[in-house]
Amino acid sequence: MSNHQTEDVCVNDWVNQVLDTVKHNTPATQASAYAPSNIALSKYWGKREANFNLPVTGSLSISLADHGTKTGLSVIDAPAHQVILNGEQVGEHKSFAIKINQWLDRVLPSDLKLRIDTHNTVPTAAGLASSASGFAALTLATNTLMGWQLPEYLLSALARLGSGSASRSLWHGFVKWQAGELADGSDSIAFPLKPQWPQLKVGLLTVSSLSKAVSSREGMGRTVATSALYKQWPQKTEADLASIEAAITNGDFETMAATAEHNAMSMHATMAAAWPPLVYWQPESLVQMQKIWQLRQQGLPLYFTMDAGPNLKLLFEAQHQADVEAAFPEIQIITPFSHVTEVRD
Ligand code: DP6
Repeated sequence: MSNHQTEDVCVNDWVNQVLDTVKHNTPATQASAYAPSNIALSKYWGKREANFNLPVTGSLSISLADHGTKTGLSVIDAPAHQVILNGEQVGEHKSFAIKINQWLDRVLPSDLKLRIDTHNTVPTAAGLASSASGFAALTLATNTLMGWQLPEYLLSALARLGSGSASRSLWHGFVKWQAGELADGSDSIAFPLKPQWPQLKVGLLTVSSLSKAVSSREGMGRTVATSALYKQWPQKTEADLASIEAAITNGDFETMAATAEHNAMSMHATMAAAWPPLVYWQPESLVQMQKIWQLRQQGLPLYFTMDAGPNLKLLFEAQHQADVEAAFPEIQIITPFSHVTEVRD
């Protein structure tokens, strides 16, 4: 047996153990759930184990309220699952469908086939973490469909098997994913943080909504394997995480947002030093960064973060919204703590 197959057996063993008491449940005919997308303020970049999606470090995110994924599941009489994305059937050989099928096949009885109807309110694969909200919504909907009634920490671990950042998308607000130490990832789970920040705004500056050429998964693998700068990363990001968490507790916007920007730039530096080099930025991304730095120099408390894509996510507080909109007329503004769209069902 190859190493990969051995690891795969381990993941299946862990899943079977978690679902042992609920495996004979009769499924409902349909269920649906919503999960918000999230952006990390201190990033998950690099795995210590790839089959369980176990991270090298912890990370901390903010969820994007009504920007996320709604997933409907219905039981079908068919030989295979059917995956629908934004109203269109996805071919079974597309990586999107393969990842969903693989996750479902781990957790469902083998004779149960589903239609998975996924609607994203953020561009798919454009660095707005739609795989995070997608796997979180799929996990929540499956929990309902199958009547599992699992505690949230186990749902977080199950969502992580689909995509690491999905472990953080089960909640609104600030969420921390602790790296954990155990080989089966039982302690690599996310949980919501208490503080709320009603004035906090996240602005989406979309430079490109095309799918990226190199996925986060491949990108982080390449960075860990080839970037000498990656050696600095775990220590840097753990320190950033601690400082962001403290800043959130203290309501200290400057420290929180400046540390988040520094963390994102440090992550992109590790990528640029990979080989072949990994640069997710477009020329326009840099134009927007320079504009932000200039506005900041003029006194506007405005910061940004970026994930594995060319788009910027701006961080600012409500009292500066008019100035931000004047500078970036095309910006889409999210209020993470609006809670007008608590739509988990
Ligand atoms: C840059 O969660 O998409 O957005 O676990 O391989 O599915 P996989 O990766 P994914 O990576 C997200 C990387 C990031 C940073 C973050 O969200 O923390």
